[in-house]
Amino acid sequence: MGYLIAGNWKMNGSPALARDLAAALSAKARARAPRAAIALCPPAPLLAAVGAAIQGTSIALGGQDCHFADKGAHTGDVSAVLLKEMGCRYVIVGHSERRADHHETDAVVKKKAEAALRAGLVPIVCVGETDSERETGETAAVIARQVRGSLPDAATGANCVIAYEPVWAIGTGKTATVADIAPVHAQIQTLFGEGGPAGKRAAAGLTILYGGSVKGSNAAAILACPGVGGALVGGASLDAEDFWKIVTACP
Ligand code: PGA
Repeated sequence: MGYLIAGNWKMNGSPALARDLAAALSAKARARAPRAAIALCPPAPLLAAVGAAIQGTSIALGGQDCHFADKGAHTGDVSAVLLKEMGCRYVIVGHSERRADHHETDAVVKKKAEAALRAGLVPIVCVGETDSERETGETAAVIARQVRGSLPDAATGANCVIAYEPVWAIGTGKTATVADIAPVHAQIQTLFGEGGPAGKRAAAGLTILYGGSVKGSNAAAILACPGVGGALVGGASLDAEDFWKIVTACP
């Protein structure tokens, strides 16, 4: 896969913003075909509006989370099957905000990623260490545990995306440096290939995103890091101009 820039709107937006933002990005994509693949992940109630606005462009739709069951008595949850029917191509699973706010374990994230694959979606599986884990030198151990525990056996480099998002860099304005990012991306690539039932997962073509305070002004440096295949963008994805700067910064 080539570069992917995914916008995670989180719990932001409104019908008006969804329409305007998606329309502005669609106009840019129509005017000049972007080199990178683009995904917009709005809150679930806005999927239809964003889906309508991006129709006929190369921009894809994504969900921010899914339940691990295909349907049933799970009030407030959204299934991967429904996301697929709403036109999604991607779904984010295991975002650090869900791991923290909803106590999602690696085992739960793995089941959600399995549900995504079953539904024909590309899961964007998020991993990343907290500030205190980083301070105590546990980054590599945390990443190993999360990658080993959160990925389905059936994941391959062609059907799955991983996002490395150091928690200390999310929404904080602190950006990781090449020295922070490159070794973790290399570690994820290796761990991914060692996974799967026989310890020989098909890792070719795996896209590993970086996420955490990515914006127009730092995108070029981050996207040039070895092993970085794109970005998962929170705050800056709510601004069409800034988001597009990230898209066009892809090498
Ligand atoms: P941020 O969020 O760009 O606002 O730091 C990134 C993310 O959480 O996906």
